[in-house]
Amino acid sequence: MRVRIIGSAAGGGFPQWNCNCPVCAAAREGRAEPRTQSSIVIRSGDDPWYLVNASPDLLQQLAALPFDRSGGMRAAPIAGVVLTDGEIDHTAGLLLLRESSTPLRVYSTPAVREALTTKYPLMNMLETFCGVDWRPLADDGPTALEDSTLAIETFPTGGDAPLYMDGEPGPAAIGLTVRDSATDGTLVYVPGIEALDEVVTARLAEGDLVLADGTFFRHDDLVSLGLGKRDSWAMGHAPLTGEGGTLEALAALEARTVLVHINNTNPILLEDSPERSVVEESGLVISSDGMEFDL
Ligand code: MLT
Ligand code: MN
Ligand code: ZN
Repeated sequence: MRVRIIGSAAGGGFPQWNCNCPVCAAAREGRAEPRTQSSIVIRSGDDPWYLVNASPDLLQQLAALPFDRSGGMRAAPIAGVVLTDGEIDHTAGLLLLRESSTPLRVYSTPAVREALTTKYPLMNMLETFCGVDWRPLADDGPTALEDSTLAIETFPTGGDAPLYMDGEPGPAAIGLTVRDSATDGTLVYVPGIEALDEVVTARLAEGDLVLADGTFFRHDDLVSLGLGKRDSWAMGHAPLTGEGGTLEALAALEARTVLVHINNTNPILLEDSPERSVVEESGLVISSDGMEFDL
């Protein structure tokens, strides 16, 4: 299986359009590498790519994806989309795929589909353009991706309902275990970790490659800069450090472990920060756009 991180930042991207925090300022001055919003693509061998999460930066991300375009006047670089949640940063890109010449194949939980047909009706809108070929992700066994040797298992990772649910119950996030029957390689992808409970901990241990939530360094990254009232816990993300922090457990995993979904305020994005040194000395990798792995 080939895994390519096409977007390594959290919602808002890096730098974020309206943010003048020290980390975003450093990116504008060329002291940190800009990053697009959270998304990966996966494929087995020469089988088609699958997009996992559709970010608002999708067009730019797909343009940078190597793809053989000799297959005809309309040939899509991806065979479908897999969603881990219904958050805007992971779904807004679906609308950018409306030119699809076939119904867009979307794998998600029923709860995400429900949110995307009611409060945030992307599915309904896509129906009027290209159509949607929705496929449920099973919660009790593998879901095979069509035309691929990849199969996906899901597990709950907690997290809050998206803000647009406006207080109504909404879809929680899931993590994915992706197994390739052709290579026996296993990817564990968890862009949102609310807590390292038993289920998540056991899943992390299965991966040959782990892509894990690196959103916040401290629980109050945003609050301490005066940029928000909700801390990392309120946003459904365990911080890397401090009480309940994930860094030690992630660093102790045997698998190569890469931090993804990194918020623009996170000082690990600064090439010369002490926080980055802490992460790198622990053996964790800080993702950037375009990173690829074979497993
Ligand atoms: C998250 O990752 O928690 C969400 O994307 C945050 C948001 O954009 O509301
Ligand atoms: Mn997000
Ligand atoms: Zn910022």
